[in-house]
Amino acid sequence: MNPQAAPAQSELQQQLGAAYDPFNDPILTNPFPFFAEARAVPVFYSPKLDYWVVTRYHDCREVLQNSKLYSASNTLDSIKPVCPHARQIMQSGFRPVKTLTNADPPIHTRTRRLANAAFTRSGVAKWEGYVRDLTRGYLDAHFKNGHADMIADLGYQLPALVIFRIMGVPPESVPVAKAASSTRILFNWGYPTDEEQAKLAQDSVDFWAFAEKLVAERARSPGDDFISALLQARDGDLPALSEAEVTTILSATLTAGHETTTSAIGNAFWWLLTNRHAWEEICADRSLIPNAVEELLRIDPSVNSWRRKAIADVEIGGVKVPAGANLLVLVASGNHDPAVFPDPETLDIHRTNAKEHIGFGYGAHICLGAPLARLELRVVLEEVSARLPGLRLVPDQKLEFLPNTSFRGPRSLKVNWVS
Ligand code: HEM
Repeated sequence: MNPQAAPAQSELQQQLGAAYDPFNDPILTNPFPFFAEARAVPVFYSPKLDYWVVTRYHDCREVLQNSKLYSASNTLDSIKPVCPHARQIMQSGFRPVKTLTNADPPIHTRTRRLANAAFTRSGVAKWEGYVRDLTRGYLDAHFKNGHADMIADLGYQLPALVIFRIMGVPPESVPVAKAASSTRILFNWGYPTDEEQAKLAQDSVDFWAFAEKLVAERARSPGDDFISALLQARDGDLPALSEAEVTTILSATLTAGHETTTSAIGNAFWWLLTNRHAWEEICADRSLIPNAVEELLRIDPSVNSWRRKAIADVEIGGVKVPAGANLLVLVASGNHDPAVFPDPETLDIHRTNAKEHIGFGYGAHICLGAPLARLELRVVLEEVSARLPGLRLVPDQKLEFLPNTSFRGPRSLKVNWVS
């Protein structure tokens, strides 16, 4: 960052800006105490990221939804500027076009209308049986000896297999896609060295080739799957999606569609098992699970921040932010704003407005996969609570998180129980 470009700010804003390091502890493991301090101001500037960081619920919502003042164009940029070597590698074969996540109207409006049909609530409801069978299969196979890892033995593969089945991707490709999603997170939201960046760039190019090949195959011989449905989708006079657009959506969904849910499963069990009363309540009454899912997504959303760019000079909570500024919207901090969620640090599975959380974003870009993620979380909680009410966390385990600004979930979560 050019220090001369540092904006004028109060002492508190400067302190927060200096302290905000999402890639390292203490914020990496537990960002919530920092978020609570940060909400003393509506926004502060982070010199390390060269981003303005938005902290409060209503400001987060406004920035996410107001596409006239805030563009989504930077949502998939690399937080750390890409070094020349990595840039050269990306240019050799990573060819996304603007479709959903980083597109503004009218491009986003058209693509989203075409993509929406497959992911509506009624569309995903038919996958419930498959999600349940998979969950039972993992429980039968790995939860036998009184101890297990909620990620390695359940949460890691399950959402990937679900989204693969929906997209029409062969299940053998799960390891490729799981590796690719960590790659994308570190490349776009992490702080890799130049050498690491070049390696991540090559992995991204390889994954792009994999997605491109799949789309070309479906274009030649369509099947009963989401890739084919996207290729065939029509809405009035809207031009159909091109193969490049479908490849971009596929490549995004093959990461957004499982890594986020894997992490949400990890976060959910961590919070429920450290709040035993809540776990015992859902074991006794499974009708509490849908609202518990919303509260879990509120208290620790697996996407804890998202991005926008100011199109014009704006004011956020009375603070002037210049046109062109990059904004990091701390949705997890918004979800802990006491102005909207009283006693926000407490997990309350009966919270009446839990569903107002912004863990899936807000406005026109709101998560396309939210109904699917909700379904997966509900089914996993129903199955595990029915089978293993005595589940406990292995004490004193140190949780590890991928160092990045936005995607949050434990890489491993060890549990045990007495059979
Ligand atoms: C618990 C799991 C998930 C969380 C926390 C999550 C969170 C988010 C967030 C915060 C956004 C940005 C919204 C905005 O800009 O306002 C988003 C967008 C998106 N998500 Fe998810 N997501 C999850 C699961 C999924 C799944 C299962 C899919 C699979 C289809 C998916 C696909 C997408 C897509 C395609 C977008 C871009 C939508 C657009 O720009 O129109 N997500 N998600």
